[in-house]
Order: sequence, then structure tokens, then C-alpha cells
Amino acid sequence: MTLPRDPFELDPEQMRRLGYEAVDRIIDHFTGVRDERVTNKITPADARARFGEPIPETPSDPHTVLRTAVDDVLSHAMRLDHPRFFAYIPSPNNFVSVIADALVAGFNPFGGTWQAASGPTAIELVVLDWLRELIGMPEGAGGLFVSGGSMANLVALATARHALGADASGLVYTSDQTHSSIERALTTLGFAADRLRTIPTGNDWRLDPKTLEAAIANDRRDGGRPFAVVANAGTTNTGTVDPLDELATLCARERLWLHADGAYGVGAIASDEGRRALDGLARVDSLSFDPHKWWFQPIEAACVVVRDASLLRDTFSILPAYLRDTRGADAEVNLCDYGVQLTRAARALKLWMSIKTFGMAEFRRAIDHGLALARYAERAIDASPDWTVVSPASLAIVAFRYAHDSRDAAALHADVVREMYREGFAMLSGTTLGDTPVLRLCTINPRTTEADIDRTIEHLSSTARRLAGR
Ligand SMILES: Cc1ncc(COP(=O)(O)O)c(C=O)c1O
Repeated sequence: MTLPRDPFELDPEQMRRLGYEAVDRIIDHFTGVRDERVTNKITPADARARFGEPIPETPSDPHTVLRTAVDDVLSHAMRLDHPRFFAYIPSPNNFVSVIADALVAGFNPFGGTWQAASGPTAIELVVLDWLRELIGMPEGAGGLFVSGGSMANLVALATARHALGADASGLVYTSDQTHSSIERALTTLGFAADRLRTIPTGNDWRLDPKTLEAAIANDRRDGGRPFAVVANAGTTNTGTVDPLDELATLCARERLWLHADGAYGVGAIASDEGRRALDGLARVDSLSFDPHKWWFQPIEAACVVVRDASLLRDTFSILPAYLRDTRGADAEVNLCDYGVQLTRAARALKLWMSIKTFGMAEFRRAIDHGLALARYAERAIDASPDWTVVSPASLAIVAFRYAHDSRDAAALHADVVREMYREGFAMLSGTTLGDTPVLRLCTINPRTTEADIDRTIEHLSSTARRLAGR
């Protein structure tokens, strides 16, 4: 039986017109984002009123659907690529990678096996090898692309547990500045909450090897079984890099796995200054890194790199009967053997195309710009009577607090963030360092200027003064 016609067919002219309109809208976004609001949301009730409808049985004009998608759906999202988006970790995208993602969706390769996608797999391995070389890890290190830093941390910790033969009673050590995805990964892997030992940091927000060593010794004395340390290669709060080199020495001595969460910070490895800040990174057993943060890629693009890539395969490879005929020569890598996903998109293509197009020197310049801007922001905050720097510029993040006496600084900061969100001129986020509530700016967008920083700080000052009733 055959259908009388392809149910999803558009004729070539229709496809072209739809595609060109989509590309035009993306270009409008790229060229116009600076003049857009940074923030934009609708209420759940409004969303229900706009989008809630019975499943449509009948067709609609694709151009109308596209316009609704751009004007009503995508318009209601924070602009993570806006030059004045400084909150969390921005995602300042690039156009070549957008086109790469469109190509991947269009050609739709199955990135799980060499047999199905030798070209995309080869590119993924090439890009990972570039990263390996930049980090300075030996040959034999490698990994794969995953959806984000959370998934990269999960894959790395699963590998650590497997490689060390640890069970769910094993202990993992990290600092109180570590991203929540580590706790989530351990929970997902079946570890009870008390298996994560959180080491308090001092005013430098770094994991202190001596305190860590004492905690490990203490646990061993009590019969505990330490198996891994998670270091930060750029914390989300302050951009702090833990002393990776010293931690690597400690972990080698204690026979512990050292994982570096570099979801945000590892991107700095492309620049000389960043490389110095990440000293010791080459010695870790595994790391995670999000090119969708500081390597300017569209969401989703993250990698996990393991010093001995074969450990990934040992951890994850399962060959069901129905996939036996995908096995080729030994050199044919099946990336589904190295992680959680079987069906996986060709996420490395966008990074490869953008590095080929712009050259790594441009990435380096973009990263150096972000590092310099954070220092500029620190100086500007320092010069303002309204703010006090709490954590100086570190890997493009600076944290600060309201300088004037305020009944409740945490509440004031939260109100400032809410007001900035409401106004949509610039966006930043708050956090707590020890007991100190702070605001923070992350300056990794290469399109951000010093004037953007100045205007944002002026705006912050007037907002905070107004809210504090000064
Ligand atoms: C240091 C760090 N680790 C992990 C993550 C989680 O990464 P993702 O949001 O890509 O899952 C983040 C996200 O901001 C991060 O900053």
C-alpha cells in the first residue's frame, strides 16, 4: 500500500521560501539583539490563553506558523546573547554554528555509530582532539559531546565510579562553591546525599588541599571509602579555579579520581591568560566543558573528556543483538559506546564549522576580551560609591554587594534583580558567598562593550538607591 502523496511534502519553492524567511528572521535577531529587551516573559495563564488549543487536525500556512513561533514563542525568552546579559553564564552564540545546527537537523545523521555517521563521528573526534591538545592531555585522552555540563558531570562521575570499582557507599569531595549538577549527578547515580562531602571555602572560594586531605584522612579513619574529588575549573558564583595542580598531586597520592567541572571555565584554555589560570588542568582524570558557554555555540553543546578514553567505553558499552552488525573495524569508533545516548545529534559539527570559519585566534581574542571586561567591571564597581567588590574579577566573573547599610541586603539584591528583569535593560543574577549576599556579572559576551558595563552599573546604582529609599 502506498500513500497517494508524501504527507509532509513541501515543493522545493515552498521549502526555499520558508527557509529564507527563517534565515532572515535569525539574521534580524543577530543584527538587532542589542536593541531588544534582555528579558521577556509571559505568565502561565497568558501562555495557556495564547497557545492552549486542541491538537490541530487540519493544516495551517507554514509562514503563519513560523511567524507565530518567532513573534510569540521565541520572543518570550531571555536573550542570553544580549550584550547586556550578565546573569548566570551567558550563551553568546555565533551565526555559523546556527547554520551548522540547521544542517545537522536537515541531514539528521545518527551520531551513535561509525557505520551510520562516519563523517560526523570523525569530526567529533577531531574537535575533541583539538581540545585535548589545548588542555595538554596525552594521546589516549578523549570523550564525546553531550547535551550540557550537567550531563558531562554525570558521565564523568559514572566513569569514575566504574573505573575505581566504587559502589554507592563511596565518598566524593568537593567545595561549597561547586555547581548543583554534581549533587544531582550523584543522586542520579544512586549515592545518598551524605556521600557528598562539601568542604567549606574561605574568602578565596577555593578548595583548600590541606582541609581536603584532613577530611579524607578523617573519613578513612572512620572506615569511609573516598573515591573521587570534584574540583572547579571556574565556579559559577565567582569564576574561581581550584588549585588543580596541587589537587592532582593529592589525588594521585590518595588514589582518588580527580574530576574538574569546567563547564564554564575550560573555554579559557584557548587564551594564554586563561591557560595560566587553569594550571594543572592537564593532570585531571576527567573534565566537563560547555562550548555553549565560553566557546560561543548554540545550546546544546558540551563535552566530557576523560584522560583514558577507554574507561568511558568500559563504563557504558553494551552491545545488544540488534546492533551487532554496527560493529566495524577497531578503529571505527561508535560514540554510543562512550556515554548514555544511543541516538545522538552531531553536536560537534557547529564547533568545527565555527572554528574553521573564524580561526581559533578569533576565539582567543573573544575570550581575552571577556577576561579584560571583567577587570574593567571590577574597576568600575570599585569606583562606584554604591557597590563594594566581594570577589574580584576571576575568569570573567565579578561579585559585589550594595555598599550602603541596608536592612536586608539579600532582599534588596533580589529586588534589584527583579527590577532589572522587569525593565529589560540589562540582566544580572545574585548569589550568596558564605553569609554575604552578592550580585554578580559574567562578562563573556564578545559583543559587550565598556559602555555596556558603565551603563549597566549606572542603572544598577539608580535602581538600588531607589529601592533602598536613598
Ligand atoms: C560550573 C558549572 N557546572 C555545571 C553547569 C551545568 O551545565 P549545563 O547547564 O550545561 O547542564 C553549569 C551551568 O551554568 C556551571 O556553571
